[in-house]
Order: sequence, then structure tokens, then C-alpha cells
Amino acid sequence: MKICIINGSPKTSKSVSELLIEYLMPFIEGNEVVTYNVCRTDFSKTQFSQIQSSEVLIFVFPLYVDSINSHLLRFLVELEKKGFENKNINVYCIINNGFYEGRQNHVAADIMKNWCKATGLTYGQTLGIGAGEMLPFLKDIPLGHGPNKNIGIAFQKLSYHVLSLNKGKDLFISPNWPRFLWKIQASLYVWYPRAKKNGLKRKELKDKANLSTAVPNTANKAIKWKSSKKSKNSN
Ligand SMILES: Cc1cc2nc3c(=O)[nH]c(=O)nc-3n(C[C@H](O)[C@H](O)[C@H](O)COP(=O)(O)O)c2cc1C
Repeated sequence: MKICIINGSPKTSKSVSELLIEYLMPFIEGNEVVTYNVCRTDFSKTQFSQIQSSEVLIFVFPLYVDSINSHLLRFLVELEKKGFENKNINVYCIINNGFYEGRQNHVAADIMKNWCKATGLTYGQTLGIGAGEMLPFLKDIPLGHGPNKNIGIAFQKLSYHVLSLNKGKDLFISPNWPRFLWKIQASLYVWYPRAKKNGLKRKELKDKANLSTAVPNTANKAIKWKSSKKSKNSN
């Protein structure tokens, strides 16, 4: 079976998506598998036709602002414009996100389902994985064991559907690790060091987070303004 994997991470190396593709490979071995990275590749005509003639497309990408990053979006638009003569293609998605809950990926999964409707392809299944940044720390633990238990089980289910060309219920999971512990660890070992590397202090991270609370206030003002206008009009 011809399977094409699209790595949709904007990172050129060491992405969680790349690790997830590594995890997937043993489950689909024995098939004709080709992998592309939307950031690294300027797709040629031959590469596009290779994608269009696959039996299975597996998109592996991170969640960006509850959605799809611009590199992947541009690629999807281009692929949609080129179209598919052979509509007999099943699409599966493995989406990872930074927050603990894999459920956060459901909007991005819906976007991919809509893309399938637009292109006439069949949507197979989503695997949404939370706490993506944790996965590189767990890479020496075999799938299906300890903190990688859920991920191993989910990969087994997804690959079963891929290989049998069936549809499956969307799976949204997190690693088998306490949420509160991950929050502390991620702050100390991932987010704070990353902020520092980008010239930001911890406090500035929190200041930025507070900006979002300005949105509901503005919205509240707008609602109050609207309702006062309404009551004036009705008087
Ligand atoms: C610009 C940007 C936006 C993001 N938006 C979200 C988000 O809305 N929700 C979330 O849970 N994680 C979000 N993340 C975190 C990424 O999904 C997370 O870091 C993921 O593990 C990256 O995967 P990758 O290494 O395969 O690119 C965002 C990250 C970036 C850089």
C-alpha cells in the first residue's frame, strides 16, 4: 500500500511531529512509505503526483492557536487547487499540542475534515496528543509502557485503521503522567528556558497572558454599549 506522510511542523529539525512519525513507522512497515516535510520541501510536480496517487495520507502536525500553522495551510490550499483525480484516498491526522489535554486538537481535526470534504477525500481518524513537549523526554521508554502507555495503545488503534483503510473514532489522549507535575516540569525545563533564550523574563510571560483578559473586558464594554443603545431606542 502507498502511504504518504506529511510532516506539517514548521520546525526544520527536532520537532515532536518528527518523533511521532518515528513512532508510527514500525506500525506501518512493509508498505511503500514516503515522508515529506512541508517546511523543508519545495514540492515538485513529481512529488505532488506522488502524493495524489497515494492510497493513504497521514498528516502529522502541531496545533498552532487552536488551528493549523501557515506552512501547512499554504500546502493544503495548493494541494486542494491541484485536486485529486483519484478520490480513493484515506486521510488520517496525528496532531500534537502544548497544553496537557489532547482534546484541544479537535478544532484542527475539524479543519482537516472540512479539507477532506472540499477535496473529496475520505477522512479516516484523528489522533490528538496533549503535552507534546513532554514526548522527547519520554523517548527512551517503549510505547505502551509507563508514561507512554496511552500513546502506544492509540498508535496501535490508529495503525489498525490505516492498514485496513477503515474509519475510526477520533482519539484524544495525554501521556500517563500527572497534569500538575507536567505543569511544573514544563515551566522549569521547557517554557522558562525558552522564554529566556528569546530575551523574555518570567514576569513578561505572565504579563502577556494577562493581555487575553483584556479581550472579555472589551467585549463586555461592547455588550453594555449595545444594550444601552437598545434600551435608549426602545424608550
Ligand atoms: C505559535 C504557536 C502557537 C501554539 N498554539 C498552541 C495552542 O493553541 N494550543 C496548544 O495546546 N499548544 C499550542 N502550541 C504549542 C505546540 O502545539 C507544541 O509546542 C507542539 O508540541 C509543537 O510540535 P512540533 O514540535 O511538532 O512543531 C503553539 C506553539 C506555537 C509556537
